[in-house]
Amino acid sequence: MDQGKQITLPLLMSVGTAVIGSLQFGYNTGVINAPQEVIENFINQTWYHRYNEPIPKNSLTAVWSIAVSVFSVGGIFGSFSVGLFVNRLGRRNSMLMANILAFISAVLMGFSKMAKSWEMLIVGRFVVGLYCGLSTGFVPMYVGEISPTALRGALGTLHQLGIVIGILIAQIFGLEVIMGNENLWPLLLAFLFIPAVIQCVLLPLCPESPRFLLINKNEENKAKCVLKKLRGTTDVSADMQEMKEESRQMMREKKVTILELFRSPLYRQPLLIAVMLQLSQQLSGINAIFYYSTSIFAKAGVEQPVYATIGAGVVNTAFTVVSLFVVERAGRRSLHLLGLLGMAGSAILMTIAMALLEQLKWMSYVSIVAIFAFVAFFEIGPGPIPWFIVAELFSQGPRPSAIAVAGFSNWTANFIVGMGFQYGASACGPYVFVIFTVLLVIFFIFTYFKVPETKGRTFDDIAAGFRQTAAMAEKHTPEELNSLGADSQL
Ligand code: GLC
Repeated sequence: MDQGKQITLPLLMSVGTAVIGSLQFGYNTGVINAPQEVIENFINQTWYHRYNEPIPKNSLTAVWSIAVSVFSVGGIFGSFSVGLFVNRLGRRNSMLMANILAFISAVLMGFSKMAKSWEMLIVGRFVVGLYCGLSTGFVPMYVGEISPTALRGALGTLHQLGIVIGILIAQIFGLEVIMGNENLWPLLLAFLFIPAVIQCVLLPLCPESPRFLLINKNEENKAKCVLKKLRGTTDVSADMQEMKEESRQMMREKKVTILELFRSPLYRQPLLIAVMLQLSQQLSGINAIFYYSTSIFAKAGVEQPVYATIGAGVVNTAFTVVSLFVVERAGRRSLHLLGLLGMAGSAILMTIAMALLEQLKWMSYVSIVAIFAFVAFFEIGPGPIPWFIVAELFSQGPRPSAIAVAGFSNWTANFIVGMGFQYGASACGPYVFVIFTVLLVIFFIFTYFKVPETKGRTFDDIAAGFRQTAAMAEKHTPEELNSLGADSQL
């Protein structure tokens, strides 16, 4: 059993190759932030070229907001379609195929300036969104399935680490002296081509998920062979045993469609929790920072807003690493609660700093501190936890559908923030983060009362807890259930 804890080279290489998909997601989340002004100039010039007049301010805001947020529309479609691919093509080949989208998008965005077409930019952002939506399902699934049980949590967190490193790279490349300038911004957006090539070269060297081979394809020998490579040992009987058990469980439990997931009282509670956690991640307002921080910092009177944005990226990465080390000790629930509360406090501080800026110039420093704290608290819990907790809340049968619904909620909320923030900011001025503060408090209360701790519990145990609540709900009214303290047993 001990070999099960070993990190072997093939395992590391497979996880490393997969999380290039997470890196792409992060890169495309962060890349649009720093070069906002140069790209807006391009939109304006294109408009002038076509209509012989400068673009009206409202139209510019609309085109820019669409270019930013159409990425999440792609993500909505992509994440919802994960189930269509993984069971037919397999996990590894799904990741490989998805790169076609990355290449198409790189070409569209890379040539948009030459073609004087901001429409190409918008379509390119949509296509890369599709790719990233798929990745947010494929990557955690593949990594989870090839990891030994004892390392599943730690390796799973590498998905979020890939995302935050991607954001940081985008922020650095977006500097004016690097690629965030009038000439090179198309290259900055098309850069995703390179990780896509690297992933296409490396993926064929990585094995298919042994769980997919055994459970979906019934190819026992191949599965064994892959496991031996991944575990670096010839004795893989324990792993095989566990996978066969999972396979039997799945037959008993059968595949659950998205519709059944919504209908069955058995899944009501975990589904509500999964969706609310995704919403708490996105409606915390984190992407208002990652899409728009350069203009937020500029409004807050920061002299070098682009460098402050990079500072946020560094804090973001550092605290993801912190979370990686404490999540198995402190637990998901407590870290999520701490993160939400800290974010709410930071948002209040940010609002005060922005509101007093006119009178007190030094408030711009307070706003930097507040934004950094906001980001740090996010990565403590609300950043990484929702991505991997969905798999923990559901057993094998309903898991794929649950991941699709959760991904859909995440990306929809991502879209709403990306699209709405600019408008919210012009309507509410310095008070725009009050909206997020209210939402954060609501999510804190929900998490406190409804979210169970999943640390150290097997999937089976967690599912059994929910089954028990559902059974009680069948026999009792919800009021009786509450007084019996069913939720606290979870
Ligand atoms: C999470 C979110 C993503 C966000 C990132 C910031 O992965 O899903 O939308 O941009 O964290 O680190």
